[in-house]
Amino acid sequence: MLLFHMALAAVAVYSGLIHLESIYYGHLDLDERPLYKIPIISELSDEETLLLFVTVIFLLVTYVIRQMNELKLVKLNMPVVPCTLPFLGTAFQFLTNTPWDLMESWHRKYGSIYTFKLLGRTCVSIEKPEHLKIILQSKIQNVKKDVHFAYKPFLCILGGGIVTSEGESWMYQRRKISGALKVDILETIPGATLGAVQRLMSKLDRCAENGSSIDIAEELRHLTLQVISETFLSLDAQESDTNFATMYLPIVEEGNKRVWSPERQYMFFMPSFWKHIFGIQRLNAYVSKLITDRWALRNIENKKGSNGDILDKVLDHFEKENPGRSLCSRSVRQLRDEFKTFMLAGHETSAAMMTWTFFELMRRDEIKRMIEQETADVFGVKDWKNGKGKSGNLLNRNDLPSREELSKLILSEACLKESLRLYSVVPVVMRQISKPVQVENHIIPKNTSVTINIQSVHHNETYWPNPMHYDPSRFTQSKIPDPYTFIPFIDGPRNCLGQYLALLESKMVIALITQRYDFKLVNPDFAREGCDPRHRYIVPISPKNSLDVTVSKKILA
Ligand code: HEM
Repeated sequence: MLLFHMALAAVAVYSGLIHLESIYYGHLDLDERPLYKIPIISELSDEETLLLFVTVIFLLVTYVIRQMNELKLVKLNMPVVPCTLPFLGTAFQFLTNTPWDLMESWHRKYGSIYTFKLLGRTCVSIEKPEHLKIILQSKIQNVKKDVHFAYKPFLCILGGGIVTSEGESWMYQRRKISGALKVDILETIPGATLGAVQRLMSKLDRCAENGSSIDIAEELRHLTLQVISETFLSLDAQESDTNFATMYLPIVEEGNKRVWSPERQYMFFMPSFWKHIFGIQRLNAYVSKLITDRWALRNIENKKGSNGDILDKVLDHFEKENPGRSLCSRSVRQLRDEFKTFMLAGHETSAAMMTWTFFELMRRDEIKRMIEQETADVFGVKDWKNGKGKSGNLLNRNDLPSREELSKLILSEACLKESLRLYSVVPVVMRQISKPVQVENHIIPKNTSVTINIQSVHHNETYWPNPMHYDPSRFTQSKIPDPYTFIPFIDGPRNCLGQYLALLESKMVIALITQRYDFKLVNPDFAREGCDPRHRYIVPISPKNSLDVTVSKKILA
């Protein structure tokens, strides 16, 4: 076959030369032209020769690439997902299915490790805890993030922030922020969450009174953005909802569209292309101004750290590391990317986790009653919207239970974890191998993309009996899941820095809202058996339509 292609290519190249030659000698009489011509091919027109030439070269190149790829796949020594298309590989299957379900179904068919081709890449998908551990615990220099494959449409937000950085820059950012996110911020989260919950309660009360419906998924997105904006940048709710959300959310929406329609990034003739560019510029200018204003304020008023938010902590760190230095535009750009990253990483994921939890609770009265009981034990039976606290003022952050008390919201947390398992709001993460890694008897070569298949291990019957059934009791019993069978925040050196924050904030929301309201889906078909409510490709996994609910207020007894 290879010989045939090469012979064909040689003929095409030769005929191309003859045509060039005939153009060159065209003005000469027939008997003056050279004799070495190939009959038939030399009779072809210029266009026909060009077509033949291009076709043969294309066939030759694709053949050689396929041979090389197959050689590589044979070396991988694992099941291969069949595909016939050169370069595109399995792309059409991804476009016509839910990508995460497709990859999960391949695990069921081919086993715990398999390889597939996608857009010229060799990918290996893994779901077995032992394999996950090897890849996730590998040295950072051997296994890197597959930034351009996984995060490309969001690079306009993530820039050089922690999620997309590597090496020294990543280590520096992680060191700088991890203490603040794992410890300091947890002190301020309950207060900020209560404020956001009270604002949501105002809206829900209105809906309960006038019978109108509300998109609970959208409201939870606003709530989590408010909490992040307050704790990271000291923005008030008004600023978060009007300025930040209106600038930020359309950029995220366009990024999501570009994941599976990458051609959108080149469609400069579409208004959405320019809207996206101007939107990014506006957001960059806005976040940069927040940083420079704060820096100026700290220096004028000498009020260092008076806001007590993450921005203050990061600026404290900057001053300590660079005594006497001012904040140059490069540092502002870097900090801007870091804060845009936190906003993106920190609000949509938590909102999605809560959305699916409310969605499941709407159909589970018994679990709701148990949550009400648990909430009453921890928060008391109070009207957290209009009730008065110890000081005689409306209940506020000073009236909240202690962190230790909040840790008793075991069922609320279990419901959230079960949603993370069942819906796997981040269904896969990607890694790029930069030094060959051995996984059992497979050597995964350099430049291979590895899919950490979070959804697939969460749905694997071996580790989770009856996996498609929503059952929070999996997380209430004293038994903790086996290592690497529950990895919504992944594990290892690049694990999620916001997991404690997300769970603390979200269990308060689930507890306080469930204590006070009942929700009913406006479109019950959404929860019908066999109906898949998830959007096909948006990550974090969100409902495919708005999640409109009607609201009724409970009588607190
Ligand atoms: C339910 C909520 C959340 C889920 C399911 C989640 C999930 C994840 C996952 C899977 C990763 C790894 C991504 C990768 O390796 O490509 C990650 C990383 C990260 N997450 Fe979260 N996350 C959540 C909430 C948050 C929150 C609230 C924050 C706070 C700002 C946050 C900050 C981060 C950061 C900074 C990283 C990057 C860590 C690094 O690369 O060193 N996350 N998260």
